[in-house]
Amino acid sequence: MSNRKPKVLATRHFPPDVEARLAANFDAVLNPEDRLYDGPGLAAASAGCDGIMCAAGEALTAETIAALPASVRIIATFSVGYEHVDVAAATKRGIAVSNTPDVLTDATADITLLCLLGAARRAHEGTTMLRTRNWVGWNPNQLTGVHVTGKRLGILGMGRIGQAVAERARAFRMQIHYSNRSRLAPELEKGAIFHTNADEMLPHSDFLSINAPMTPATRKWVNAERIARLPQGAVIVNTARGGVVDDEALIAALKSGRIASAGLDVFDGEPKIHPGYYDIENAFLLPHMGSATVETRNAMGFKALDNLEAFLLRKEVPPDLVRAS
Ligand code: DGY
Repeated sequence: MSNRKPKVLATRHFPPDVEARLAANFDAVLNPEDRLYDGPGLAAASAGCDGIMCAAGEALTAETIAALPASVRIIATFSVGYEHVDVAAATKRGIAVSNTPDVLTDATADITLLCLLGAARRAHEGTTMLRTRNWVGWNPNQLTGVHVTGKRLGILGMGRIGQAVAERARAFRMQIHYSNRSRLAPELEKGAIFHTNADEMLPHSDFLSINAPMTPATRKWVNAERIARLPQGAVIVNTARGGVVDDEALIAALKSGRIASAGLDVFDGEPKIHPGYYDIENAFLLPHMGSATVETRNAMGFKALDNLEAFLLRKEVPPDLVRAS
């Protein structure tokens, strides 16, 4: 029997404590310069590897997966979202795929509230006024925004993160509406109003928070027709995946004032975001920071490692195995 440690390729430069555990338990191929691999580069770098630890935003398409060496048996993504991995193609090749649910729920819900408040209360314009030395003093009409407390919040996708957003929004006495594949049990719903048809939730959403995963069904879900169903001056928040929003439609609605403001942490095609966003004052924009706390990034890494260790060291099913839908 060989004492060889399984070999794992880390496609990104992960947090120090995560890489330390990876290197202690595996023959780790690290990426200290954080070079981004393309498909052929990934296939070459994973030569002889048993597993790959990748991250959100890296496209592991069917073609890329087909080109991986036969030695690769698991892809553990350092993310809860896994739309960047073609799970069906991996499963067909006998490669397990795992993700990191739960551990980033709170951090992502926190940033959702930051986006909601930042958009509603014109934080971008306020900080810009100050930092560009253009603040000439308080005045009664200065940077008046949208009131948050007591308003209606529609949540698209009431999974773990959606529920954590609702919990925080209740502190602002917001009335919660939600749409989800299935209705939650009363103890999870906590009085939130369920809409079987998400389109019917929109007229009740002074604020709309996108917390649904990116799937073919949610691609560009927030389009011109749905924006037209929202109340005049609604606020749109997206901390899930940029592709759920039709950028052209949202930018047009922000410019016309149909939508008062948007708080966005994620963008279609990021980091090359739609250039129209750069010059819009009524958009509070963050560079995909939802899970960016030291504690959360470590927890995500440790969860990815739990999956790699279960599968490669103990020959068990990874606890967060993702199945092709
Ligand atoms: C995830 O885990 O899917 C996040 O988007 C990364 O922050």
